[in-house]
Amino acid sequence: MTKPKKVLGIDIGGSGVKGAVVNTKSGKLYTKRFRIPTPQPATPEAIAGVVKKIAEHFKWTGLIGAGFPGVVQQGIVRTAANVDDAWINTDIETLLSKATNCPVHVLNDADVAGFGEMKFGAGKKEKGSVYLITVGTGLGTVMFIKGKLVPNLEMGHIILHGEDAEKYASDAAREREGLDWEVWAGRFNEYLERIEALTWPDLIIIGGGVSKKDDKFFSHIKTRAKIVPAKLLNEAGIIGAAVAAKAHFS
Ligand code: BGC
Repeated sequence: MTKPKKVLGIDIGGSGVKGAVVNTKSGKLYTKRFRIPTPQPATPEAIAGVVKKIAEHFKWTGLIGAGFPGVVQQGIVRTAANVDDAWINTDIETLLSKATNCPVHVLNDADVAGFGEMKFGAGKKEKGSVYLITVGTGLGTVMFIKGKLVPNLEMGHIILHGEDAEKYASDAAREREGLDWEVWAGRFNEYLERIEALTWPDLIIIGGGVSKKDDKFFSHIKTRAKIVPAKLLNEAGIIGAAVAAKAHFS
């Protein structure tokens, strides 16, 4: 197979499905991002329909890489915390390949965001252990040890104050409860303290939608490790999904 550097990257999220054509060599986008709100209920058929529309928008016939907001093992979805339960045990790669008529590779959304940040963003020069947390509808977590991914780490679901941490400290929790940034940052800092106590990373990268609003909360965050916002902001997922697909199909 040839090694096309142009790949369509798609980030399937709890509130929006976003796509763009990515230059997998430079990590830059060839096109603007195209976003469609996540259909509710977010069933496999409904999401496949949206992914098809995104591929059609770009008149796409090449490789597609996608990030999905749940555990994905060898192309099979295993969990679905913020999308419909019907996803569990769905062969997402076959479903999306049929919908788009393109070869599709799918991994967990935080894992692909991690690939993007490690290759082109804030983790590029880090040799030690890097922890990336995507903050959006859920809390996505990914860890790289000496540049190697630990796949499907699900630390967004540790228990904090008797509940799932992402119900307490995600961006969706901030919006749902109308918390101001300082109050939310206090909660998020508690979460980070637990993560640090359990995993001791050298660098923490904050990704997802809040990464472009770092001026609103970074001053309230205190961690032992160095902490930085994602450089690719919330495009890390699109870029990383494209990079992972290119590596998979090469
Ligand atoms: C899911 C993770 C996902 C994260 C961010 C969590 O609820 O369990 O797999 O990475 O949300 O979307």
